[in-house]
Amino acid sequence: MCGIVGYVGEGSALPFIIEGLKKLEYRGYDSAGVAVMEDSRIELRKKVGRLSNLEAALHGFNDSMGLGIGHTRWATHGRPSDENAHPHSDCTGDFVVVHNGIIENFAPLKDWLVGNGHRFSSETDTEVVAHLIEEAYEGDLADAVRKAVSRLKGSFALGILCRREPDRIVAVRKDSPLIVGLGNGENYIASDIPAILGKTRRAYILEDGEMAVLKKDSVTLCDVTGAPRAKEVFNIQWDAVAAERGGYPHFMLKEIHEGPKAVRDTLSGRISEDGSKIVLDDVGLPADLIAGVKRVFVIACGTAYHAGLTGKHLIEKMARIPVEADLASEFRYRDSLMGPGDMMVVISQSGETADSLAALREAKRRGVPVLAICNVVGSSISREADYVLHTWAGPEIAVASTKAYVTQTVALAMLAAYLAQERGAMSESERRGFIAEIRALPQRVERVLALEERVAEIARKWAPVNDMFFIGRGLDYYIAMEGQLKIKEIAYIHAEAYAAGELKHGTLALIVKGVPVIALATQPGVREKMLSNITEVKARDATVIGIVPEGDALMEDIRKQCDELLEIPAGDPLLMPAVEVVPLQLLAYYAAVARGCDVDKPRNLAKSVTVE
Ligand code: M6R
Repeated sequence: MCGIVGYVGEGSALPFIIEGLKKLEYRGYDSAGVAVMEDSRIELRKKVGRLSNLEAALHGFNDSMGLGIGHTRWATHGRPSDENAHPHSDCTGDFVVVHNGIIENFAPLKDWLVGNGHRFSSETDTEVVAHLIEEAYEGDLADAVRKAVSRLKGSFALGILCRREPDRIVAVRKDSPLIVGLGNGENYIASDIPAILGKTRRAYILEDGEMAVLKKDSVTLCDVTGAPRAKEVFNIQWDAVAAERGGYPHFMLKEIHEGPKAVRDTLSGRISEDGSKIVLDDVGLPADLIAGVKRVFVIACGTAYHAGLTGKHLIEKMARIPVEADLASEFRYRDSLMGPGDMMVVISQSGETADSLAALREAKRRGVPVLAICNVVGSSISREADYVLHTWAGPEIAVASTKAYVTQTVALAMLAAYLAQERGAMSESERRGFIAEIRALPQRVERVLALEERVAEIARKWAPVNDMFFIGRGLDYYIAMEGQLKIKEIAYIHAEAYAAGELKHGTLALIVKGVPVIALATQPGVREKMLSNITEVKARDATVIGIVPEGDALMEDIRKQCDELLEIPAGDPLLMPAVEVVPLQLLAYYAAVARGCDVDKPRNLAKSVTVE
C-alpha cells in the first residue's frame, strides 16, 4: 500500500519526510516522491524504484520553509514510473497532492477536466484531485479541498500543499488511513504510525470524512462540510516493530484482517452504480474475444491455483465456457492442445512466479490471448499479459497468501459474471442478484472475522496433532485444498484435502480415532452427500470440525454430526470461497502460533518463487 508523510514546522521538512518514508518501506512500493515549499514555489522530485534513487535526486534541494509532503507509491492506476509517482500537481503547479486509495470515478472526472482545458501529465487516478482543487480554488485551500472531495467516489487519504498558502498542509480521508502527529512547533501527517514514531507519540487518528488543517503551531479539525470536530489525542503505546504490523503480532494476521478492505478495493469502480452490470473497462477485454472464446485455460501456482479452481467452477457455471485449470509447473511440460479459440487466465499475486510467467509466454508464443489476474502492478506478468485484472489487494508481506487469495476469488467471480453478462448467458435479474451478493462480500468477510476467538480455541486444541484432513465437495473441495496448504505451510502439520466422495476409495483407511477432519459443507446441491461422508468419518471416530452457513435449517443434520462447529455468514454458495477461507486461514495461523512456528517466514519458503 502507498505511504504518505508530511511535515509543517520550524525545522526542515525533508529529513522527516525521508525518514518517515523509510519507516514505511516495509509495506512495499515501486516509486517515491516529495514536494517541498521553496521560496515562492513548490519543488517536486519523483523517482521510480528505491528511496535511494529519490535521495540521490534530492541533492541541492533547498528546503528552507519547513513545509513538505512525501509518498511511496504502490501502483494501481498506471505503471510504476517517474511520471506516475506522487506527488501530483495541477496545471499551474500551485496545488500538489499525495494520495492513498483509489478514485473510482477518475475517468469521467478526467474527461470533464480535459474538456475544461486541464492538461494531465500522468496515467494516475490521483492527478484528477489536484486539477479538481485547482478548479475549485477561490482563495481558501481547505474550502477547495472540500469541494473537490465532494466529487470523488472511492477511497482516499490525501495530503495537499498550496503555493498560495505556504504555511499549511490540508489532510482528509475516506476509507484509507491517515493520522496527524502532534509535535512542538511542528506537526505531521502520515498514513501509518511508524512514520511519526521518531518524533511523537501523540496523534489524531482521522476518521472517514474528517479533515485537518495543519500549521506549525496548530491543528484544526473539521468534517468535509466544514463543521468543526473535537477529538481525543491518541497516545501511541506500540513499539516500532508492533507499529509496522499495525499492532498485530504478525503480518499474516494483519493481512487476514485487511481482507474486507482488500475486497472493497478489488470491487472498486467495477460495478455500475445501479448494480446492474459488472464494468471491467480497466481490463479492456475486446468484445470479439469475449464472444468468440471457446475454452479458457486457468493457470497458476499454489494458493493462486486454488483460487483458479474456484474460477473454473464459476466460469463454467455462469458463462458456460469450458475451462481447464492447471498448475503452471505441470501445464508447461504437458504439451497441451491450447490453440486458436482459447484464452489463458494466469493468476499470480506477485506477478513474478517463474512457472506462471513461463506458461504465459507459452500461450503468447501460440498466439493465445492472456488475461492476468495479478496484484502487483508493473510486475512481469502484468506487463507481459495482454489484459490485466488487478486485484488491488495492497502489498502482502507474509509468505502465506491470505488477502490475495480472497481477492483472487472475488476477481474470478467478477470475471465469470462479466463473461456471462457480455455473452448473454445470464438474465438481468440473475445478474443483479449476483452483483448484490458480490457487493455484500466485504461485510461478510468482516463478519466471519468475528469467529477469530472461537477458531483460535479450536486451533490451540488441535495444534499438537500430526495429521489433519480437509473434506468438501464442489467449491468446498477447492477451499479445502487451500485450507490444507495453509496448515502445512505455516503450522507444519501434515494435511490432506480430499473430495469427500473420494474418501471411500482409499483415504478412509487413514481415518482413525481422534484424527481431526475439517468438513466444509456450504454447497446446498451436495448437502446430503456431505452428510453421508461426515457420517463415514464419524463412524471411524474422527473428530469433525464442521463449517456450515449460519441459520440454514437444512444443515441441521450435518450440525448434529460435528464435534466443533463454525457457522459462517450465509450467502450465494458460488461466492463462499472468499468468506469460507478466512476461518481456515485463522486456523492455520493460530495452530502455527501454538506450535511456535515462524508464521510470517515459514521454513524453506519464499514469498515470490522466481525459480522453476
Ligand atoms: O505470487 P503468486 O501468486 O504467483 O505465488 C504463487 C504461490 O507461490 C503462492 O500462492 C504460495 O502458494 C503461497 N505462499 C501460499 O500461501
